[in-house]
Amino acid sequence: MVYLFFVLASLLCTQTEALATQLKEKTDFQYLLLAHFWPTTSCVFFRNEGEDCYVSPVVKGWTIHGLWPSIAGTEKPDYCNDSMKFNYNEIKSLSSRLAVNWPSFEMGAPNTSLWEHEWTKHGTCAYSLPILKGELKYFNGTMNLHEKLNITKYLEDSGIVPSNEAMYLPQDIFNAVKKGVGKVPDITCLYEKKTQRHHLEQVWLCYNKQLQPIDCPEVSATKRLSSTLYFESVAEQEAAAPLNSYFQECPKSGKVYYKPLPNSQ
Ligand SMILES: *[C@@H]1O[C@H](CO)[C@@H](O)[C@H](O)[C@H]1NC(C)=O
Ligand SMILES: *[C@@H]1O[C@H](CO)[C@@H](O)[C@H](O)[C@H]1NC(C)=O
Ligand SMILES: *[C@@H]1O[C@H](CO)[C@@H](O)[C@H](O)[C@H]1NC(C)=O
Ligand SMILES: *[C@@H]1O[C@H](CO)[C@@H](O)[C@H](O)[C@H]1NC(C)=O
Repeated sequence: MVYLFFVLASLLCTQTEALATQLKEKTDFQYLLLAHFWPTTSCVFFRNEGEDCYVSPVVKGWTIHGLWPSIAGTEKPDYCNDSMKFNYNEIKSLSSRLAVNWPSFEMGAPNTSLWEHEWTKHGTCAYSLPILKGELKYFNGTMNLHEKLNITKYLEDSGIVPSNEAMYLPQDIFNAVKKGVGKVPDITCLYEKKTQRHHLEQVWLCYNKQLQPIDCPEVSATKRLSSTLYFESVAEQEAAAPLNSYFQECPKSGKVYYKPLPNSQ
């Protein structure tokens, strides 16, 4: 009995140590990526899945997807501490700002579902940074970054305005955001199955650990950007590697939609 106890105890210790080492490595990151959604394209995503979306009338522009501790060339780290369960009460004081800046668009899903997902997948990884430690700092800090930006305006200043008819070159969209932010961004698009057209979906901006804007390292470092963006077509991506990521690059040739908000008509 006593013997068994020691065996078990030492097993547990070894496991805890291994877990601690693993977690330390798991939570390391190089920079933070602030991902934004264009709500209308989020609706395309849900339509592609045969679902419906809901965009509240308080939503007037680009919204937050999440703030992601990142390592260039990977989608890591993620899910850094499963014991830190999302607790809405901790961020309840931010509710009106969250509703405007960080809504969830999935019809029928609880409106906390995106926050819970972003906290569990990314917020727990940002925890190692004192300025983003814990739910309140993570959500407030992310919204503080977002509220300093106006992506709608950066695009508008370059003549890129939401339209049901006009389509835009990904390169022009990229240049417009780059000019507005003063740093190298990244953009992603989404393919609509029904119309077989691409839509501008996300704008990604990057920050260092002091939360100062930086060029997005991945875009700067890879083939995709010298002075001209290189966008792979979906077919090329599939040929190169099976699409195991949700994110799609914008088409290399051809234009994309940037449609008005569903609640703006
Ligand atoms: C994970 O979160 C739990 C609960 O907050 C905490 O007790 C634990 O120390 C955390 N683990 C690490 C490695 O940070
Ligand atoms: C969730 O949405 C409902 C209905 O729109 C609203 O009454 C409620 O205040 C929202 N809750 C949060 C946490 O935003
Ligand atoms: C959110 O961040 C701002 C800027 O740092 C700060 O002034 C404010 O008190 C924070 N709000 C909460 C609820 O912590
Ligand atoms: C962002 O810019 C657009 C276009 O100039 C403007 O209509 C909107 O009010 C601005 N949004 C905020 C939150 O300032």
